[in-house]
Amino acid sequence: LLLGVLSLGGGLGWTGAQPSPPSPLTIPARPVTSTPADTLRDPIFPGLGQAGLDVRHYDVALTVERPGTPELRGAVTLTLASTRALPEVRLDFLGPAVTAVRWNGRAAPFRVDAAAQKLVVTPPAPLLPGHEAHLSVEYRGRPGVILDPGFGAAPVELGWQSVPAAGGRAGANFALSEPHGTHTFLPCNDHPSDKATFTTRITVPQGYVAAASGVEGPVGEGNGTRTFVFTQAEPIPTYVLGLFVDRFERVTAPPVPVGVNGAPVARRDYFPVSTPPNVRAVYTRTGEALRVLSDWFGPYPFGAYGTAVVTPRLPALETATLSTIPVTSGERTSVHELAHQWFGNAVSPATWADVWLNEGFATYSELIWTEAQGEDGGAVVTRWYDTLVRAGTRPLVATREEQLFDRSAYQRGALALQALRVAVGDGAFRAFLRAYTARFSGGTVSTAEFLAFARAQTGERGEAALRLWVESPGLPPLPVVARASV
Ligand code: ARG
Ligand code: ZN
Repeated sequence: LLLGVLSLGGGLGWTGAQPSPPSPLTIPARPVTSTPADTLRDPIFPGLGQAGLDVRHYDVALTVERPGTPELRGAVTLTLASTRALPEVRLDFLGPAVTAVRWNGRAAPFRVDAAAQKLVVTPPAPLLPGHEAHLSVEYRGRPGVILDPGFGAAPVELGWQSVPAAGGRAGANFALSEPHGTHTFLPCNDHPSDKATFTTRITVPQGYVAAASGVEGPVGEGNGTRTFVFTQAEPIPTYVLGLFVDRFERVTAPPVPVGVNGAPVARRDYFPVSTPPNVRAVYTRTGEALRVLSDWFGPYPFGAYGTAVVTPRLPALETATLSTIPVTSGERTSVHELAHQWFGNAVSPATWADVWLNEGFATYSELIWTEAQGEDGGAVVTRWYDTLVRAGTRPLVATREEQLFDRSAYQRGALALQALRVAVGDGAFRAFLRAYTARFSGGTVSTAEFLAFARAQTGERGEAALRLWVESPGLPPLPVVARASV
């Protein structure tokens, strides 16, 4: 794990007073063209990311002076590597005004390409494979706005959320970024195929509590401020970086020994002070859910788990180690977001077209939980199927942004897994799930790799059952247990 070198103080901008001494290795800044060839060519969001760039670690320092307003101050140091020579680094960024950029501690030329949503930095020499560099960016102001068309009637603004103070409730902020909102407030390689570790420091006024993905370190006391620090030691995609500021109560529970090799998973939840008891009660069952799901999915992949409750009516999100769940959601959502820690956060989609692998497994966990309560799982499966009969359906690999979080991604994705289970039986299905997370945890998986792995683990029978649900233009028949099969 490589930590960054930036401190918050002493920000000298490129336009500032300390130009780098000339070096024979300096290459002149070239005019920047934004050809799609530079990007990761995601099938849904072709502009995201930079081909050949590998961000290993983000060292993030955020200052929220007035919680509830969009104003943000940031200083991030990225540990960079590359798989090809990069004469420029093109980070996704639609964030506040950049005030300083440094390459290995020295001011470096940069420009903001707002149309391409990129921060383009020219290093003194190309970044070469086998080398690492530290790129530091400081910025302050208002995050950019990216709208998500696919949720309910009104579009959702992705990224940095501001919840103004109202009716005696304090102002709050949090990140809600899936799929591509993180670069509204953080310069990053904003694509799930470039997973990274994070150190996050959040400075807030006294009286506020900040939280983020990862395991918490000691709180720093400043002059009227407090700084909270978190280490996310396992790599995660940028869209699940969780960040929260509110007048939270941090509530701990006993650790649950379901991590890798039985390691204890720390438990903590964050409730805004006004959270009613019936909402808090939902999260008293999280330890039990960790045990039930890890029994099917294999060891829980991170060092901590819990929920941060937020007040706006927005979709829940599986932010790493600390799910973001609206106060209006219940137990089913809490189990769904927990399942995403395996499917989405540890095993991540290779592209956005593969996001049904996240939503299908997370929806499937709702059936596992229902069955673990001794309730009728058949009713859950029938409900999924009826939803698709009414709403219509599509093959599982998404081709348009509007499909990413539609019913096919969730219910048809879950039914594909049910079809596999029915085809191979409970024992083989559970073994498959555990082998799958063991094989792909920490990395990414495409739909094609998923199918190939299913074939290797469960044979032609398992693969065929899945493939029907992945590929058919129409709705396949409801999978039912064939009692005659061996
Ligand atoms: N992954 C989230 C969940 O199902 C859903 C996020 C939906 N996001 C959106 N921008 N529509 O838990
Ligand atoms: Zn989900």
